[in-house]
Amino acid sequence: MEKVKDTIILGIETSCDETSASVVLNGRKVLSNIISSQADLHAEYGGVVPEIASRRHVELILPVIDSALKEAQVTLNEVDGIAVTYGPGLVGALLVGVSAAKAIAVALDKPLLKVHHIEGHIAANYITHEDLEPPYICLVASGGHSHIVYVRDYLEFEVLGKTRDDAAGEAFDKIARVLGLGYPGGPAVDRMAREGNPEAIRFPRVNFNDAPYDFSFSGLKTAVINHVNHARQTGEELSIPDICASFQKAVVDVLVDHTIKAAQYFGAKTICLAGGVASNSQLRDTLAKRAKKKGIRSLYPAPIYCTDNAAMIAAAGYYSYLTGDFAGLDLNAIPYLNIGCRKNDCE
Ligand code: KG4
Ligand code: ZN
Repeated sequence: MEKVKDTIILGIETSCDETSASVVLNGRKVLSNIISSQADLHAEYGGVVPEIASRRHVELILPVIDSALKEAQVTLNEVDGIAVTYGPGLVGALLVGVSAAKAIAVALDKPLLKVHHIEGHIAANYITHEDLEPPYICLVASGGHSHIVYVRDYLEFEVLGKTRDDAAGEAFDKIARVLGLGYPGGPAVDRMAREGNPEAIRFPRVNFNDAPYDFSFSGLKTAVINHVNHARQTGEELSIPDICASFQKAVVDVLVDHTIKAAQYFGAKTICLAGGVASNSQLRDTLAKRAKKKGIRSLYPAPIYCTDNAAMIAAAGYYSYLTGDFAGLDLNAIPYLNIGCRKNDCE
């Protein structure tokens, strides 16, 4: 794919509880990335409330887009294409971004670029690592997804394995809730774990003989909850840092094992991390050490591009722009959507 001139993409992301808009130059250089998080609004419920999320997106979407354009010092007329997350995610939340993107595209007669949320997370790596090019293996671990993906080319993805139950981030959030650490739980467990002993409690690790790249975290979650309940009932002293460190190690061991196995099988020279859990300090460190021993480079996006943001959506949309893969105005929000789906009928 050859670049002929500078390309400015406006990205829009509203799939969950962040309202975000961003302006990205040539798919790699972020001119602005405005993220308005609703985390505080949802914290008292211990998770995202879809109806509250949609309403807040409606209030925020236009001011957030305006701020992104202003900060980038770009006018809508200078934008070459509008990239938007159309799935997977909360349907009411997705619809706000999709409607705004369609309105701008039709008003200005500019290309509309549809972006799969997870492909956006993967593209976050292009922002932080300007020299990164496919092929590579990407471990995507977020609140809703845990996938090992072989990225053959910018728009060619093969899912090698995924979780059979909870996503890694979801497990972090549930454990944090049981331990009273608040929402979102990942960063809190990560911080606590630094004070604890990862070998203190041996929590289970699940592997599948018939699917070496698949994950399962629900048994681990139950084991942690049982451990906590048992200690509370018997009056045993609970070390929250030890539980966090031991739980985190169990998650990281499995994520890293399976990802390195996939990279070795496919002869990949690079492994990338993506998604909210990619900001986990132990995941980064463990992967870096173990990949290095095998002669594999490991990369991860800057923390701000790990959790939901529109810069990663603009970065991914850039490659659809280059190939002329434009969406029609019949684009809809699709809550369940497979990675790598390029047609309208393969969700
Ligand atoms: O990618 P993301 O912003 O949203 C989804 O698409 O799901 O990921 C959010 C998830 C939450 O589950 C959060 O607890 C987790 O990422 N997370 C972390 C860390 N920071 C965020 N999990 C573990 N360690 C962290 N440092
Ligand atoms: Zn996400």
